[in-house]
Amino acid sequence: KQKDMINVTFVDKDGEEKNIKVPVGMSMLEAAHENDIELEGKDFDAFHFYIMVGKLNNLLYFTSGACEGSLACSTCHVIVMDMDYYNKLEDPTDEENDMLDLAFGLTETSRLGCQIVASPELDGIRLAIPAATRNFAVDGYVPKPH
Ligand code: FES
Repeated sequence: KQKDMINVTFVDKDGEEKNIKVPVGMSMLEAAHENDIELEGKDFDAFHFYIMVGKLNNLLYFTSGACEGSLACSTCHVIVMDMDYYNKLEDPTDEENDMLDLAFGLTETSRLGCQIVASPELDGIRLAIPAATRNFAVDGYVPKPH
């Protein structure tokens, strides 16, 4: 019997883990929203603040999932913590890769959360919220050169 819910762990910048159950078919962006997990990270650093000031007319852009999963932002950036799970995902489309290139703290296992959809083989996946990479070592974390 196939599972209809999978276990997903989000790891925040302090290394705090949050385990949630996600229905098959739901994106990690939606799942994060439903569980009050902020993909963007709570504290803005100077870099984000600088951009934010430049975009005061459109503050909403900086809340996670600003584009609601239509591949027009990169605020839903997550890092798949285990290569095994990363390899189970469908390859990113060109559109996703273009958006990822704009993401802060890009890694070799970075994906957009709105493009990762829960499926039975992803049960147990662990996703780091990008700010995490600055404060602690993520297994398999490989900074991607631009
Ligand atoms: Fe905008 Fe994922 S929510 S690209």
